Amino acid sequence: MPCLFVLLLVVTSGCNQKPVDFVSNQLLSFRMERELREDLGGRSIEVANALRFAFGTPDLPKWPDILVESSRYHSLTDQKSLARASGPVGRNFDLVEVGLFRKQCAQCHGISGDGFGPTAALLDPYPRDFRRGTFKFKNAFYGTRPSVEDLIQTITFGVPGTSMPAMANLKRSKHYADDIPILARYVRFLAIRGEVERELMMDTIRDLDSEDVLFDTNLQETSPEAFKNGLRRINEVIIRVADRWMLSDGLKESQSQSPFNAFVARHDFAKSDLNSDSKSMAGNLFQESLESGRALFEGSIAACAQCHGKDGTGDPKWKDYDEWTKDWTIRAGINPMARAEWKPLKQLGLLKPVAAFPRNLTLQAYRGIPTIDNLPISDSSLHDSLPEKASAEETSSREDAPVLKHAKSSSRLAILRAVLNGIEGSPMPAAALAASTDGGLRDEQIMDLVRFVESLSNSTNSAPALTGGKAAGLAVLMGAGQ
Ligand code: HEC
Ligand code: HEC
Repeated sequence: MPCLFVLLLVVTSGCNQKPVDFVSNQLLSFRMERELREDLGGRSIEVANALRFAFGTPDLPKWPDILVESSRYHSLTDQKSLARASGPVGRNFDLVEVGLFRKQCAQCHGISGDGFGPTAALLDPYPRDFRRGTFKFKNAFYGTRPSVEDLIQTITFGVPGTSMPAMANLKRSKHYADDIPILARYVRFLAIRGEVERELMMDTIRDLDSEDVLFDTNLQETSPEAFKNGLRRINEVIIRVADRWMLSDGLKESQSQSPFNAFVARHDFAKSDLNSDSKSMAGNLFQESLESGRALFEGSIAACAQCHGKDGTGDPKWKDYDEWTKDWTIRAGINPMARAEWKPLKQLGLLKPVAAFPRNLTLQAYRGIPTIDNLPISDSSLHDSLPEKASAEETSSREDAPVLKHAKSSSRLAILRAVLNGIEGSPMPAAALAASTDGGLRDEQIMDLVRFVESLSNSTNSAPALTGGKAAGLAVLMGAGQ
């Protein structure tokens, strides 16, 4: 009771909770120190101060002024979402729940979105570090940022076969459908902040003369000119990063042009599945398609077997790491297989390097869930409610997105998207396509390949695709999640 009283008085400061700060990206400083052969101590502090000035703290985050002042970034800089998602868990003056990110996500992703929450080290794969701006599951092009819709999808349905839970399963909260877009926007905030930090450390600082100060609030009074210069440099980076995210905002261009979306728009193939194909394809065509798919799977253009093994279970000898792990190991001159080399970095936030294995394709636990339509989730009201719950802008841009509107979600879509767009951040490449590359795969060959991959799991798995915790549990039992 006294706790509730204090809570109401102090609004979001919570009970017995000290104010927290975003954690600096120490692994990045380490990597830069190695590269530049100098101690970056002072510079790291300047970067941390600049970030606090621009983005605030986890208890009181803000969008940088330079973005808020321009109408161009209006859809990005939603202060209401920040207020709901950030801070300690509690309720605001209107008794609306705040601190959503700390309640639902930070135990894994960390308060700073660095993927270093208290439970992170126990999980495989590790929770995403948002600070690179790299996301695996999106309809957009390889190399672009996910749209809010992409993030909403991941948060709603989780990542089956991993510990990333589906918020759709959290029916305890009355507002969970409202909360999802808010959390998606907060993920975007954390990612943008992390990317700005990264570019300040990797580019801006590298170019500074040793007597130049990047950022120091005291300069505001003692040397306004130097302060302005520093701010200009920081704002340049903020704009550069924000512009990248704006490209994927509202789904439009990057979404409709990605190979996956273009393919889905060209063919009805995406709306069908293996069973109906086997009935509708005349004569031997179905069998021939599977045979052609197998040949492509094993052949040298698609080269799937090289990583997934001929039988699709994954080549156990194959060893590679994802981009997040490579960032602090290989790119910093550290051998991820040599424990003595990486162990000292653990205190800076390094998680033990774990290889990113090619998925076992004989299990139907696909991680990417390309659409929110017709998912095997019993609560149909969620599907009905989600588009309306998103902001008006998102809803109208959703109308413009043929893929989201018409395509069903199925393992076929997950395979198609993985093959056509690749899985960014992981070793899974986007297939070479005929349109852009001589000798690349034609559309019919893509269909053959996808049918063959579907056939790998079809015989052993009759259960519908599961989502979130259930799937993760099942995957553990079945030895999946690789
Ligand atoms: C129990 C741990 C756990 C919790 C809780 C959790 N996540 Fe995750 N999350 C993960 C893991 C593990 C991955 C990585 C999955 C992968 O790489 O396939 C992930 C990945 C993600 C991704 C990246 C998907 C992509 O495209 O790369 C986003 C975004 C995300 N989580 C957001 C959230 C949000 C928002 C919450 C809170 C509502 C949350 N997560 C709660 C474990 C968790
Ligand atoms: C260089 C190695 C490599 C090659 C070549 C490769 N893959 Fe993958 N593939 C992976 C890895 C690694 C993953 C796991 C990605 C992750 O961490 O989410 C994966 C994941 C997948 C998934 C799972 C998608 C999901 O949503 O869970 C499918 C389907 C897939 N690959 C199909 C293929 C097909 C078909 C080909 C050939 C066109 C192929 N892969 C070529 C490494 C590879």
